[in-house]
Amino acid sequence: MNNWLALEEKHGTGVYGNWPLALEKGKGSFVWDTEGKKYLDLGSGLGVIGIGHGNSSIADAISNQSHKLTHAVNGYYASPVRANFLKKLTSITPGDLEKVFLTNSGTEAVEAALKIARSHTGKSKIISMIRGYHGRSMGSLSVSWKKENKAMYEPLVPDIIHIPYGKIEKLEEAISSDYAAVILEPIQGEGGVIVPPDGYLRAVREVCNKNNVLMIMDEIQTGIGRTGFWFGCDYEDVTPDIICSSKMLGGGVPIGAMIAHKNISFQRGKHGSTFGGNLIGCQAASAVIDFMVANDILNHVKNVGNKAIDYLKTETQNIPKVKAVRGRGFMIGIELFEPAVPYLKAIFKENILTLSAGKKIIRLLPPLVTSENDLMDGLNKIIKVLK
Ligand SMILES: Cc1ncc(COP(=O)(O)O)c(C=O)c1O
Repeated sequence: MNNWLALEEKHGTGVYGNWPLALEKGKGSFVWDTEGKKYLDLGSGLGVIGIGHGNSSIADAISNQSHKLTHAVNGYYASPVRANFLKKLTSITPGDLEKVFLTNSGTEAVEAALKIARSHTGKSKIISMIRGYHGRSMGSLSVSWKKENKAMYEPLVPDIIHIPYGKIEKLEEAISSDYAAVILEPIQGEGGVIVPPDGYLRAVREVCNKNNVLMIMDEIQTGIGRTGFWFGCDYEDVTPDIICSSKMLGGGVPIGAMIAHKNISFQRGKHGSTFGGNLIGCQAASAVIDFMVANDILNHVKNVGNKAIDYLKTETQNIPKVKAVRGRGFMIGIELFEPAVPYLKAIFKENILTLSAGKKIIRLLPPLVTSENDLMDGLNKIIKVLK
């Protein structure tokens, strides 16, 4: 074990188990460890590095802003940097979603969504989805599914039920106007890269409308181009009442956003964050959006991602241990009939970083800038390992 791993283990709380790897630098879709060894990063640091490691647009944005002003605390002072970013962010969100609460993480964006849903509707009950994942704070954990991550922290937030994902009849059976909101991901990420049937999101929208219930779309993993659209819900042309965004939004700088319909607001002083909306995060996220537009990243992800998924499906159909390949754009799951971790380890030996989702799924969330050649090269090595 090298020094860095040992030190992190010594001072860590035990909650994280690291790979035997200490990273030093990155460029585009590649990272290098402290010994100078190069890896293709098909996990994007848990789906964060959309426009690539070491992107100079982000580096310049952060650096320039840090010389001017890093912090103009939200709730006290306005800032042209933040104001311009809010305008840019709401220009890529669907419909009339234009009220933004800025946070430092995905979890906090979900927390804000749950709170605003309750305060806006005056109702407390929330419907969430089996296999959904929304974060680790008490609120976001309560709407998440995995029981083994929740049991030791109980009692959690009450008035939350979980129903099967992707089955509109189950929502119709469960819902009533007693509920404040339904929270769901457009494609479930941690739950196993589960793509709902076409038309499901649109049907959820209609059922929510009929029952006067808010629709909260957790786009923390799927948003900012991951599926080839700005947001996963754009695939079905659906406008939820609230979108939660984070991960790729800051290109590696911590930032999240809860973006609500223009008629939904908090009461003054009833929510807040010291660092939410800090200027470094706003400039980084502005640079991400600008870079994506200038380089037509959405089309790249649509074309290359969907080609890659088709290729994987074809090439793995005769590998008995592969149960299914699914995904959209640069969000790809390979479900196995057996545990995924030994395969992640074997793929790691090929100098490729990947993720799991659940016990039996290999999850790929490549940086959106990954070239077709690099992605196909990585996929061929993964296929070789699976064979
Ligand atoms: C769909 C979804 N929601 C919420 C979260 C929590 O975000 P964070 O880890 O930034 O708090 C995640 C993180 O993986 C996620 O994938």
